[in-house]
Amino acid sequence: MEKLTGLNKLKTVVFISGTGSNFKNLIEFAKIKKTPISINLVISDTSKAKGLKYADQFNIKKKIFNFQNNKDTEKHILILLKKEKINFICLAGFMKILSKNFIKGFDGKIINIHPSLLPKYKGLNTHYRAIINKDKFAGCTVHYVTEKLDSGKVIMQKKIKVAIKDNPTSLAKKVLKQEHKLYPAAILKILN
Ligand code: GRF
Repeated sequence: MEKLTGLNKLKTVVFISGTGSNFKNLIEFAKIKKTPISINLVISDTSKAKGLKYADQFNIKKKIFNFQNNKDTEKHILILLKKEKINFICLAGFMKILSKNFIKGFDGKIINIHPSLLPKYKGLNTHYRAIINKDKFAGCTVHYVTEKLDSGKVIMQKKIKVAIKDNPTSLAKKVLKQEHKLYPAAILKILN
């Protein structure tokens, strides 16, 4: 791929549903010199997502879509992404599953960050499952998005040790810290 300069950075949307620490981290990553992306938009499925505050703070356009009729919602999102010339989607704590039609209809890459060492623990409560299974290792994965939940090709993973005293909360905290390093690294891997 041709090297991206300040003029031709990939216009990126981040999809969130919650706290948005990965969103904030990607905003910061998009400010550094070697970054291949610019964050142009954030989409949330709920106005309650705490992470939306970063859109205000960093002056990023935000849109809230309630996914009651997924098909219509996705159609509207695709129109918006085309209008905004978005060609890269980063899912970051986004709690809805995008359909095959949406994925096919989007002209660009879609990636996600997941708090487990995929293919282990797809879906929710990954840290809880790692703890009750007494796993020695946990971690996070950045992967391409397909219509099958948390099943697309892995781009990068980071593995960490689970301490005997860890519980789901402490493990989540440790993994999240790694997510903030892994997401930018994975983006650099696929775009540079
Ligand atoms: C992260 O652990 C992410 O991997 C998972 O949900 C969490 C979202 O955290 N899918 P945040 O909203 O980015 O702070």
